[in-house]
Parts: sequence; C-alpha cells; structure tokens
Amino acid sequence: MTSHLITDIGELSTLVDGEARLHNAALVIDDGVIAWIGSASDAPVADTSSSVEGAAVLPGWVDSHTHLVFAGDRSAEFEARMSGQPYAAGGIATTVAATRAATDAELADNLARLRAEAQSQGTTFLETKTGYGLDVETELRSARIAAEQADVVSYLGAHLVPPGVDTRDYLDLVTGPMLEAVLPYVSFIDVFCETGAFDVEQSREVLLAGRAVGLNLRVHGNQLGHSGGVALAVELGAASVDHCAYLSDSDIAALAGSDTVATLLPACDLSTRQPFPPARALLDAGATIAIATNCNPGSSYTTSMQFCIATAVLQMHMTIDEAIYAATRGAARALGRDDVGLLRVGGRADLQVLAAPSVSHIAYRPGVPLTAEVWRAGVRVA
Ligand code: NIG
Repeated sequence: MTSHLITDIGELSTLVDGEARLHNAALVIDDGVIAWIGSASDAPVADTSSSVEGAAVLPGWVDSHTHLVFAGDRSAEFEARMSGQPYAAGGIATTVAATRAATDAELADNLARLRAEAQSQGTTFLETKTGYGLDVETELRSARIAAEQADVVSYLGAHLVPPGVDTRDYLDLVTGPMLEAVLPYVSFIDVFCETGAFDVEQSREVLLAGRAVGLNLRVHGNQLGHSGGVALAVELGAASVDHCAYLSDSDIAALAGSDTVATLLPACDLSTRQPFPPARALLDAGATIAIATNCNPGSSYTTSMQFCIATAVLQMHMTIDEAIYAATRGAARALGRDDVGLLRVGGRADLQVLAAPSVSHIAYRPGVPLTAEVWRAGVRVA
C-alpha cells in the first residue's frame, strides 16, 4: 500500500475534541486508515501528496436515516401537497405497489444511483431500510439488496399495515415469518409509531420481537403529532428516535436523560410542511442530536446532507459546530457506532474536502455544491 499526504488544510475538523478546528493542518492516509494528523509544517513524507490549497477538511457525512429500496415516483403527490394537501402515512402504499412490481435489478440500480448521488456530496457511511415491501417476499428482497450496498440495514416491516390486510394478522407476520426471513441481513428493527401506522402498544410488540432475536432498536416517532413514539423509544433504550417534530417538555427531558439519540430530519419537515423539531431546547437540555436526510420518494426526496445541515442552522437555530457534529458523530451514535464520523489516527479514512475555506460555508452559502473531494476508506471516490 502507498501512503498519501493531504496538506495545506486551511481548517481541519476532526470532531475528536468537540468543536475544535485545527488550522494549517495536514493528514496522512495509509492502508485505508488515518496514519497521522498534525500541523502542515510538521507533516511526514508520504509516497504521494496533494495540496488542498487552504480548503476545509472534515469527516464524511454519516446519513443515519434513509429509505432507498423503492421504485416509482411520487412527484404528483408532492405537487398536490404544495397546493395544500396534507402529508399522510397512507402515501407509503403507492410506493409499496411500485416496489413489489419492480425487479431486483431495478431496485438495486435505483439504490446504487442514490447511494452514488449521496457519496458525491460527501456521504461516506449510510443506513437504509426495508419498508416498501410489506410482504415476506418483498421485504426479504429489500433487505438483501440493502445489505449489498448500505453500511447498516434496518428492518421496517412495520411501516404501514398494507391495505386490505387485518392489523392483527399483519403484526403476526411482521414479528414472525417476515422477521425470521430478513434477520440475516439487518441489524436494527424499526417501527412507524404514528396515527395511521402503528400505535404505542403495537410498536412495543414489534420492537420487543426484534430485541428478542438480537436486533437493536430504532423508532419513527412524533413525526405528525404526539404519537408516544419518543417516550417508547426512551423506555426501551432505542439507539435513536427519528423525526421528533412534536415534542412535549417531558419528551425533551426523557431524551436528555437517556442514551437515545434524537434524529432530526429537516428536509422532511420542509417537504411535508411540518414544524421543525425544537433542536435548541433538545441541545440546551443535553440531548444528543443526529441530522439525516430521510431520503425517500414520499416525504423527503433528497440525498443532500449539506442541505439538511444548512436548514438546521438557518431554521432550527443550531450552531454550525452543533450541526456538523449531528451529521457525523451524532449520526454515528444513532447507529450505535463510535468508529465513524470522526477523523482520528488509526480510524477509517472517510473524509471530505470542501470547496470552501471553512465548514461555516455550508450554511453561509446554502444551495451551493461545496464538495471538492470525497475519500472512503482511504480511496478517493469523488
Ligand atoms: O420517514 N415516516 C415514515 N416513513 C417515511 C415516509 C415514507 C413515505 O412517505 O413514503 C419517513 O418520512
């Protein structure tokens, strides 16, 4: 293997020491990992080197919430929403029909396209989930295809009760044969705890079934109202509860007093015209926040972590450093990982070079593509 020196880094955010940013820095990549980090003037000799001419360098984004195994398009639903129709859980059924009708190759190609789109914008670690199959065959196909391309796969058989199916029968399927089928491919179980999807007791049943076979827990909670999903996630020690648009004071206190990460999805809140989560209150109370895209064809069709970060800063009153942390180490924590989302000697070399001198430009220049280079496991991929 050859070593590579990246030098003349104007601002280096390692995320190791919270908000600290190093200036005039350099780093060496060797055999896929970070071998050295320090001042550019002290940099060791490497086999090859490149200058980033004063640009900012930081870890690749960790996108901890996406739904990328799907087929079809819901732009007509989006247009109707922009004309005043409300977003409702039932729209998921449209994508379920298209996904069931798609071939494995079509689903894999669509996932590859979106994964490449995300990577070209700095995402180097990605979760995705099932949830548009909702029968054993298509959930299994979805889990297998997801596991071939994503870093972490969640099982979301409990996304919606398919139209025409009895709820009790469907819960038995989700917690029985469907769970057994997807188990080799997934590490989390998820549930959409919301009016029109699953109530708190049904969600608890799903999560406990997953826990009984060794899966970690995550929850879609409090997206469209006070669903009780946040309290359930904290009670069961879930790694993450995602959405959190509607939080009571006791939800905020519960999250702050727990290890459950509040994963916020600002692009979704914009696209569905829901209120933004109370990010400032969560942070001030001491909760850990992740930011993710929630890329899916219904409620949030974007792969851009930069867009989500800019929105979190400009609209949700997070500081730049809080938002960068949430999109890297916070998101890694939401996936139960402490080995990605930061740059440390001995850690995987997942990093990005911005076409900007500071991470602040992500919110300062919203909408401008600012990714200059992306390195994944020490290989330049964009
Ligand atoms: O996270 N909340 C549930 N699931 C997705 C939406 C899926 C859809 O509308 O297709 C979400 O927003």
